[in-house]
Amino acid sequence: MDPKAVKSDLVLILDFGSPYTHLITRRIRSLSIFSLCISGTSPLSSITSLNPKVVILSGGPHSVHSNDSPSFADGFVEWAQSNGVFVLGICYGLQLIVQRLGGEVRVGEKQEYGRMEIEVEKSCGIFGGKRVGDRQVVWMSHGDEAASLPNGFEVVARSHQGAVAAVEDQERRFYGLQYHPEVTHSPEGMETLRYFLFDVCGVNAGWKMEDVMDEEIKVINNMVEADDHVICALSGGVDSTVAATLVHKAIGDRLHCVFVDNGLLRYKERERVMETFERDLHLPVTCVDATNQFLSKLKGVVDPEMKRKIIGKEFICIFDAFAQELERKLGKKPAFLVQGTLYPDVIESCPPPGTGRTHSHTIKSHHNVGGLPKDMKLKLVEPLKLLFKDEVRQLGRILRVPEPFLKRHPFPGPGLAVRVLGDVTEFNALDILRQVDEIFIQSIKDAGIYDSIWQAFAVFLPVKSVGVQGDQRTHSHVVALRAVTSQDGMTADWYEFEHKFLDDVARKICNSVRGVNRVVQDITSKPPSTIEWE
Ligand code: XMP
Repeated sequence: MDPKAVKSDLVLILDFGSPYTHLITRRIRSLSIFSLCISGTSPLSSITSLNPKVVILSGGPHSVHSNDSPSFADGFVEWAQSNGVFVLGICYGLQLIVQRLGGEVRVGEKQEYGRMEIEVEKSCGIFGGKRVGDRQVVWMSHGDEAASLPNGFEVVARSHQGAVAAVEDQERRFYGLQYHPEVTHSPEGMETLRYFLFDVCGVNAGWKMEDVMDEEIKVINNMVEADDHVICALSGGVDSTVAATLVHKAIGDRLHCVFVDNGLLRYKERERVMETFERDLHLPVTCVDATNQFLSKLKGVVDPEMKRKIIGKEFICIFDAFAQELERKLGKKPAFLVQGTLYPDVIESCPPPGTGRTHSHTIKSHHNVGGLPKDMKLKLVEPLKLLFKDEVRQLGRILRVPEPFLKRHPFPGPGLAVRVLGDVTEFNALDILRQVDEIFIQSIKDAGIYDSIWQAFAVFLPVKSVGVQGDQRTHSHVVALRAVTSQDGMTADWYEFEHKFLDDVARKICNSVRGVNRVVQDITSKPPSTIEWE
C-alpha cells in the first residue's frame, strides 16, 4: 500500500518506546483516520515525505535529562510550524516539546503513576469541548514534569497534585498531554483524541478497508510485471489466506499456491482448508501430501527444538521442489513470494530508540519459509504489512473469506508435533490427538465460547495410567486440554470452563477415543509456562 495514495489525512506517530505507542495508531485508525508509526528518531525527510497533517510524539521510558534520550530530528519544529502541521506530545512527547522549545523539565517532587484526577483550568484548544473546572480520571505514568513552559505555551489542565497535565500553544499548533489518552484507564481519553483530531486539527477521515484493498491491488499490479509469476505457501491460517486472496484478485492465476500436508495437521484439516481455498476463494492451490516424508524424518526424535528444525528444513525442501517444478512448467522462474507479514511484525522489527534492540526485519522468523535458499532470489509481496490483525480480518471479510475461517484460533507452524510430547510416531499419538482435539474444539463451538477463547487445543502425553472401563482394568494414555485467553500470545491466562462443560468433554473423550482413559486440564498461565507444550 502506498501511504500517499490513501484517501485520508495522515496522523503520523513518532515512537519513543512507550508500550502504548501501537495502541495510539490503532485507536486513531478506529476513527477511520489513516495512521502510521515510525521511529521517533527518523530523519526529517522520512517525516516530511509522508506529508502528515498531525504528528504525535509518543511516550517512552526515558528521561529528557539523560544523555542518550531520543529526540525528534533537528528542523522538525520549524518544518511543522511553516507547514501548518499540528503536533501533539503524549507523556515523554510533551516533555520533549517543552525541553526542545525552551521550557524546563525537572524531576517531579511527587511521581505520578496510575489513575489520577485532572482538572481543566482553561477551556481552549484540546479541551475546547470542556468547561473550566471539569474533572476527569486519566492514566499517568511519569517521574519528570514540566516546570516552566516555552514562550507561547499555557497550562490547560493540572493533576490534583498540581502537576501540569495538559499544555498548548494554539498559535504554533503545539499541544501536550502528560497522561495517556489512548489507554482504557483514561475513560475520556478517546473522546479527547477524537475532539483534538477532528475539531482542533480538522483531520479529514477516509480510511476505509475497501480503499485499502483497491490501493493494494494497484500496488501489486505495478510491482508484478505482466509475465511475472508469484508463489505463496498457504498455512491454513488467516494471514496467508487473506494475503493470497488479495494477490489473486490482483494478478489472477499467475499466483501459484502450495499447501503442504505434513502429517501433523488437525482432524480433517487438509480437506477443510482445501475446500475453503478452492470452493470459497477459487485460489489456484497445489496440495502436497508429504506425510511420509515428515514422519520418517521425525521418527525417534524427542527433543522439541530438533522437531522444529526438522520440520522447518523439510518444509523448505518441499517448497523449493514446488518452485522448481513450476519453473519447468512455466519455462521461467517465479519472481515473487507472497508473505502474510503484518504491521506489528514490521514495527517489532524496527525497535524504537533506546531499547537496545536492532533492526531484524526480513521475513517473520517463525514463518516456515524463513529459511528459503538465497539463490531462489524471490522478491517479496507483503500486502498486509501496514495492517493490524483485526484489520486483516476486516479485509478478509471484504474478500469474502468465510467468517469462521477469519476467526480461527492460531495454530503453530510445526503443528501437532509440538502437542505430542516425545516421539510423534509412537503410540498412534497423532491419530488419538486428532480425535481428542476435534471433540474438544467442537464442544467449545457448540457451547458458543469459541470466540471468547484465544487458543484451545489438546496435548498427547506419552505416559499411561490405570483406568477401569467396562469392568476391565485399562492401561491407557493421558491427554491434557489447554485453553487460554490472551491479547497477542506473548502472555496468556488459562480459560475457566464451567465444570459441567469439562465433565461432558472428558466423558465424551474417554467414551469415544480408544487409547485414552484420563483427561486433565492445564491450568498454568504464560509465564511461567508457554502456550504450546513443546
Ligand atoms: P508459545 O507456546 O510460544 O506460543 O507460548 C505462542 C503462540 O505462538 C504459536 N506458536 C508458533 N507458531 N510456529 C508458529 O507459526 C511455531 O513454531 C510456533 N510455536 C508456537 C502458538 O501456537 C501460540 O499461538
